[in-house]
Amino acid sequence: MNKRYHIVTYGCQMNVHDSERIAGMLSRLGYVSCDRIDDADIVVFNTCCIRENAENHAYGNIGMLKKLKAAKRDMIIAVGGCMPQQIGKADVLCKKFPYVDIIFGTHNLNRLEEYIKAKLGGKKRVVEIYGSEGEVTEGDIPLRTSYPNAWINITYGCNNFCSYCIVPYVRGRERSRRSENILAEARSLVAEGYRELTLLGQNVNSFVSPGDGMRFPELLEKLAGIDGKFRLRFMTSHPKDFSEELARAMASSGKICHCLHLPVQSGSDRILKAMNRKYTSGDYLKKIEILKKYLPDCAVTTDLIVGFPGETDEDFKATLELVKNVGFSSAFTFVYSPRKGTVAAEMPDKVPEEVCKERIIELVDLVNSQTRDVSAKYVGRTCEILCEAYDEKRGLYLGRDEYGRMGYFASDKNVIGEFVDISVKEANGISLMGELL
Ligand code: 5AD
Ligand code: SF4
Repeated sequence: MNKRYHIVTYGCQMNVHDSERIAGMLSRLGYVSCDRIDDADIVVFNTCCIRENAENHAYGNIGMLKKLKAAKRDMIIAVGGCMPQQIGKADVLCKKFPYVDIIFGTHNLNRLEEYIKAKLGGKKRVVEIYGSEGEVTEGDIPLRTSYPNAWINITYGCNNFCSYCIVPYVRGRERSRRSENILAEARSLVAEGYRELTLLGQNVNSFVSPGDGMRFPELLEKLAGIDGKFRLRFMTSHPKDFSEELARAMASSGKICHCLHLPVQSGSDRILKAMNRKYTSGDYLKKIEILKKYLPDCAVTTDLIVGFPGETDEDFKATLELVKNVGFSSAFTFVYSPRKGTVAAEMPDKVPEEVCKERIIELVDLVNSQTRDVSAKYVGRTCEILCEAYDEKRGLYLGRDEYGRMGYFASDKNVIGEFVDISVKEANGISLMGELL
């Protein structure tokens, strides 16, 4: 019988795709995936450290494996990704979890296969973290798990050093992949039947292909030129780098979805400056105007942080104002979490927890009401959904339209991976209920 693996993934899409690369390595070693941790011969935790609660989740779940490992001594436990990549964290993990067998960082993820072989060969423990990012590696074959969507990395790392953010420290400096490799990957994914390609990078707008110097708008147009029916999405864009050229490129092909994730973080110019975001709320609004000039129907989503050090009631009100002004299709809202080693972690005037709580509740209320308003406008309309999955509990298929709205519908036959039209009958907050046409 095949040996089995279970991967626990925390954090962003970048990590989700890294886990697909890990799954690729494990399947090459002869392992097959299993749903229950208890059945696994190897468990891999692919961790995140963007906020403290992401780390706490991982700590809790790794801690829970102590008993299982005592009962199943041959089971291999590996902990990798962003959390161990932080300076000094691998030592903390070693001490806290003596039963963990393999610890690796973000820059040596592609070596996990070797580490597992070493462990199987009798090595007691493998702990290896690379201090810097090295060259972009090509050629690893991920085991994709999100059909009909396929994730494609176009850049790695980040150079922006927003003062609150740990990403540049754990993902290294920004590196772009070569355009010809990205295009070749995209062509073969479309030929294999993937219906949605999502380009990934911390800041896709600053993509510059080594060699030919191709920039993001051109890459997008070239990708949209690939034959076949599919959708193109990308994330994340930094407002300071969002250009008219990109808006024009987005409007150049029906394959490029009319939706843009453009994290604003705050509506207060004082806080934006302290965050080192390099734009003002006015600049942000101008970018939205440019976007809407080319794509009037474009859905805009964002990320917002409350409780950044020194944030006053007035600063917070500016965030609410900006949200009202833009009218986001949906938004991710976060309470600021100090990250050791970042500039903001050393800033004075921490905002009390109680105040953060009040602010996040008010912000979530506003964002939710905007989300509901956008969904309500769909009722009575027809929209094209790319079916992604079947929800066993609800007995319904689900998928998203090009703007990213989730739609549920009943169908007698399996339509996963197909574009279908639904007539929207009802809107429930962020999602839609429809009838298959
Ligand atoms: N605290 C809270 N939110 C954060 N983010 C990044 N770092 C922090 C932090 N220290 C949020 C930002 C970013 C998203 C991915 O996570 O909003 O856009
Ligand atoms: Fe973090 Fe800023 Fe880079 Fe985004 S752009 S990953 S928030 S440092």
